[in-house]
Amino acid sequence: MTPAPLRVMIGAGEQRWDGWTPTQQAELDLLEPATFAAFLRDRQADAFLCEHVWEHLTVQEGERAARLVYTYLKPGGRLRVAVPDGNHPDPAYQAVVAVNGPGPAHDHRVLYTLETLTPVFTQAGFTVQPLEWWDADHTFHHADWDVLDGPIYRSRHLDHRNAAFRAGLGAPGFTSLILDCWKPTGQA
Ligand SMILES: C[S@@+](CC[C@H](N)C(=O)[O-])C[C@H]1O[C@@H](n2cnc3c(N)ncnc32)[C@H](O)[C@@H]1O
Repeated sequence: MTPAPLRVMIGAGEQRWDGWTPTQQAELDLLEPATFAAFLRDRQADAFLCEHVWEHLTVQEGERAARLVYTYLKPGGRLRVAVPDGNHPDPAYQAVVAVNGPGPAHDHRVLYTLETLTPVFTQAGFTVQPLEWWDADHTFHHADWDVLDGPIYRSRHLDHRNAAFRAGLGAPGFTSLILDCWKPTGQA
């Protein structure tokens, strides 16, 4: 019998999605390789999902974390990652996600754009496919992605604040910079 795919959420907080194993920082800490060794042992995950966590690390920590996750991902597997988008045009959004911002953003270390987040993952060996992002001219872009492959709540697809946008009636509300990061096949 084929085992069920191992699909793991990192820094899940209160989020729960069918088919995904939620983990908290104490179980899988992106800055502590020993937690990955203890949790996954000799296994590699089929997929990782990580929403609004990478911005809590410095760029150097984020690069190290990308290399760690790469090691524990199967060849051909995917890390889907979402962070606040530094090119989102709404000043109210930018106030909420700012570095050292209010409330849960108090420990935000970086505000990424597509141009600055992509190399965090390519330097680790990932092939990066952007799914949702704003460009520097404040135009919103999105690929045709499937939430079943990894739901990101703060997205055009799912966030309740984007209902009017999905209906073609207004601008996007709360979106994220979302990437699929693929580990090439043929890599250990
Ligand atoms: C803003 S919350 C996001 C929670 C959830 N993913 C969501 O989208 O609602 C940030 C999460 O990042 C986690 N986190 C921060 N640093 C981390 C690290 N080094 N490794 C793993 N998780 C971390 C926190 O524990 C927290 O759950």
